[in-house]
Amino acid sequence: MTSQLIKKIVTGDEIRRAFLKFYSEKLHKIIPSASLIPDDPTVMLTIAGMLPFKPVFLGLKERPSKRATSSQKCIRTNDIENVGVTARHHTFFEMLGNFSFGDYFKREAIQWAWELVTNIYQLSVENIIVSVFHEDEESAKIWRDEIGIHPDRIVKLGEEDNFWSSGKTGPCGPCSELYYDFHPEKGLQDIDLEDGDRFIEFYNLVFMQYNRDPNGKLTDLKFKNIDTGMGLERMAQILQKKQNNYETDLIFPIIQKICEIANIDYFSSDDKNKISLKIIGDHTRAVIHLISDGVAASNLGRGYILRRLIRRMVRHGRLLGITNEFLPNIATVGINLMQNNYPDLKNNNDLILNEIKIEEIRFRETLERGEKLLDELISSGQKLISGFKAFELYDTYGFPLELTEEIAYENSISVDVKGFEEEMNAQKERAKAASSNIDLTLEGSLEREIDLFNKTVFNGYNSLLSEAEIKGIFMDSTLVKQASEGQKVLIVLDQTTFYGESGGQVGDIGTIFSKDVEVLVDNVIRKKKCFFTLWNDQKRNTNYWTKS
Ligand code: ALA
Repeated sequence: MTSQLIKKIVTGDEIRRAFLKFYSEKLHKIIPSASLIPDDPTVMLTIAGMLPFKPVFLGLKERPSKRATSSQKCIRTNDIENVGVTARHHTFFEMLGNFSFGDYFKREAIQWAWELVTNIYQLSVENIIVSVFHEDEESAKIWRDEIGIHPDRIVKLGEEDNFWSSGKTGPCGPCSELYYDFHPEKGLQDIDLEDGDRFIEFYNLVFMQYNRDPNGKLTDLKFKNIDTGMGLERMAQILQKKQNNYETDLIFPIIQKICEIANIDYFSSDDKNKISLKIIGDHTRAVIHLISDGVAASNLGRGYILRRLIRRMVRHGRLLGITNEFLPNIATVGINLMQNNYPDLKNNNDLILNEIKIEEIRFRETLERGEKLLDELISSGQKLISGFKAFELYDTYGFPLELTEEIAYENSISVDVKGFEEEMNAQKERAKAASSNIDLTLEGSLEREIDLFNKTVFNGYNSLLSEAEIKGIFMDSTLVKQASEGQKVLIVLDQTTFYGESGGQVGDIGTIFSKDVEVLVDNVIRKKKCFFTLWNDQKRNTNYWTKS
């Protein structure tokens, strides 16, 4: 077959499918995407395709096969300020990966990566630059002597760029990355891979061979493994020849819907509006998946991440002039766009829209209260809004500084921006000090809150059934007032017949029911003062609330 007859891979779906097919033909088992809520206490969210396999790399869990491939949904919020600003940063993204668990290593990983990008995705050699860890002569040699890449296309980088680990501890190793060069005409002299207008890193091959302990010491893993990650959105940008990831078919339909609601045109919008459109487009995908995977908005942990994303969407909607509730409309477009690959989105459609709607209404009310406060300040005749007040508006009422400034400007008064920044820095310091002492895990949160409750009376020695009052509901580490169908919760009762996990004996399972709700009890744990807590284990992907 000549190359003209090979169908060009262009759409996001085609890119994903081609990746999985390529590696499945190389005997990799296709593993479906795991939840965004990881089975790993060291991270809050699934941040890479390798995360579900971390115990396998560490030798703690049996390998699902010698080789695996997946398209894993991921969320990273560490550089949220760059989302919408650069061409390629996201909170939510899909990572395509191929993995070897003690099977193949550097040679095949490099050869197959090259075959995939040049034969299947048909990238041309002139557009590819590779980086290697500066001490990894073996990889440089494979690229140069076996693949035949010109030495000028191989860039050696240090530990910061080319040594990958998923956190401060755990499996890690040197890596080799593939970059796409949008401007090969600029030549190969003085290549700066940090130049985001020219280069994009799209495929990372990690040679996972070490474990890093809490003291930073590296020891050899039992096997040498491969962990790779290709950014689906980045590959889509390259193959669809777009200016940025947001204009690809993976995100742009959401942006078009926002434009329709705001009655604006994306391409003729100024940079400021474009950033707002991109932020809402990005966050929509993150938010629908987070809720679908069981996260509910709250002030702690994952719940706080969700809340923050939704609030950012509302705020940027306002910057675009959208004054009415709009998030459920946008979320519907996101769900429709992704539900073929993630059927859970379809199953959880109502739950997702409901949670978004409630949170949007709640935040709009807060914003309104803030507006009232601002009105009072303005009508009091002051000529300056103090840094303290501007910060209160930001921190308590969710008013970004630019919104306060805008309203102040319209009323011919000014804002003490320096004072605002001082307040902001002081708060950051307070948060830093607090975060080093506070245990944010589910267990930690329980330990703090459990003193709020009286001792649970156990009457399971005489009966298997008893009436009880629900004293507290925890969702996603947070005490909440209510939960809805499909959400996983932890419940504290005043009395119970359920035996709690202790002394090697497992907790009871069963049901709690009332006139219109049924809760499936998956586990029971005992806490201080003999509290009995009904815990719906997140590890099992069951729905816990069902209407009877
Ligand atoms: N785990 C590697 C990454 O996330 C492939 O870049």
